[in-house]
Amino acid sequence: PRDLPMFEELLGDGSRIGMKFEYKVQLIPNGLAQAFVLGKDFLNGEPGCLILGDNMFYGQHFRRMLVDAVKETEQGGACVFGYEVADPRAYGVVEFDEDGKVVSLEEKPQHPKSNYAVPGLYFYDSTVCDKAAVLEPSARGEYEITDLNKMYLQEGSLKVKLFSRGFAWLDTGNCDSLLEAGNFIATIQNRQGFYVSCIEEIAWRNGWISTEQLNILGQEIKTAYGRYLQQLAHSQFSR
Ligand code: G1P
Repeated sequence: PRDLPMFEELLGDGSRIGMKFEYKVQLIPNGLAQAFVLGKDFLNGEPGCLILGDNMFYGQHFRRMLVDAVKETEQGGACVFGYEVADPRAYGVVEFDEDGKVVSLEEKPQHPKSNYAVPGLYFYDSTVCDKAAVLEPSARGEYEITDLNKMYLQEGSLKVKLFSRGFAWLDTGNCDSLLEAGNFIATIQNRQGFYVSCIEEIAWRNGWISTEQLNILGQEIKTAYGRYLQQLAHSQFSR
């Protein structure tokens, strides 16, 4: 409830960038899986995707992986990801057998069975709301996303795709990790001159807004960000 006005002010209803945003508040922070209880009407029996606001993803072919994950879950089941990290104890951890088959999932294990953390990006089929509705709170009092994923694992319908080592998955959940992510993004942006995850640019490149609309958005923002949008709108190699 405290943060919602800021998100609404920043992103609005999405129509300025050719999208549609709706918001729902979780009054008590009692777990990620609650998204599928609170968001049941919003999903309206369709498959859905959940992404955590403090997770960042950056790398080539990411878009293709997302499209593939959507296709997978349209056929049923869940699709999540695995990413090798030095210390996975703060995350959901996935264990594979020699054939690459998923054998276990654990939330924040003291003694992880592998180094593969599960990032906060989850794709589910249309049964997700019914599954989330029967979850019980964990020992830390939360409706765990890992428990939801385990239901798909038990059903034999959980797919785990791996992000390769050249891919960046960054967490911004504490001061150190936020600073590290900021430095990483600044390095890429300053080197290439492209902004990372600039939603106006993404909307324009996807054809959700016109070049003229992009230019107007740029004129309204009186900072380097606004100038970047205008520069894109005037670039020779549009889209
Ligand atoms: C949550 C999930 C965990 C996942 C992580 C990704 O952790 O519970 O499984 O690996 O996000 O950021 P939490 O944010 O609750 O610490």
